Amino acid sequence: MIFCLAKKEDALQIANIHKKEISEGFLSSLHVYFLKSLYEAIIVSSTSFCIVAKEGDTVVGFISGVTDINKFYTYFFKAYFFQSIMLLFKKMFSISFAKKAFETILYPVKERDLPPAELLTMAVSTQFQRQGIAGKMFLEFLTQMKKRNVAVFKVLVGDELADAIHFYEKNGFVSLKETSIHNNKKSRIYIYNLL
Ligand SMILES: CC(C)(COP(=O)(O)OP(=O)(O)OC[C@H]1O[C@@H](n2cnc3c(N)ncnc32)[C@H](O)[C@@H]1OP(=O)(O)O)[C@@H](O)C(=O)NCCC(=O)NCCS
Repeated sequence: MIFCLAKKEDALQIANIHKKEISEGFLSSLHVYFLKSLYEAIIVSSTSFCIVAKEGDTVVGFISGVTDINKFYTYFFKAYFFQSIMLLFKKMFSISFAKKAFETILYPVKERDLPPAELLTMAVSTQFQRQGIAGKMFLEFLTQMKKRNVAVFKVLVGDELADAIHFYEKNGFVSLKETSIHNNKKSRIYIYNLL
């Protein structure tokens, strides 16, 4: 098993794992090809990165992060705007979809006192869970955050994602507050301090 920075060609495998393993949340409701574009952007943008765990050429887990969430969104919409619009076309006419999309994009504005760096998403394929893979990916993630001079970062996690909450609490994240991005859906914000 190797743990390394993802390459652009890993994006589809990462998107498939995201779709399958992260059962809740706005992103998981989107088409897998939209997620592929999102992960391509995360991999190539200078304000973000993605660590993968690989068995041969097969991605079995990933963890993605940004050093500045606002700069990353700006990059994504500039570089992937037309591609994304086409992939979202059918859903765009749903009012609830449009509302959730805006809530997701605007949450850094609503929560502007939080650090700009963020652990965005993390998942390990079911058959590889509970073998320490997320723990090892997380160590590599911290190395990359340090390399990028990040002192503190946040993670936003849905209240229902018990395994993820357990992982964050066990790995040194400190609970900051609860928030609700999409109506009554509760999420928690945790902070990790690298200093
Ligand atoms: C959260 C998640 C990424 C953790 O991945 P993981 O690779 O299973 O995590 P680890 O193996 O490092 O740690 C999980 C547990 O396995 C245990 N473990 C580690 N190595 C082990 C081994 N060799 N044998 C048995 N157990 C082991 C760890 O001690 C830990 O146990 P604990 O929960 O009792 O503390 C995974 O559960 C997941 O993908 N969840 C769904 C996606 C999700 O919710 N993502 C977060 C939202 S973005």
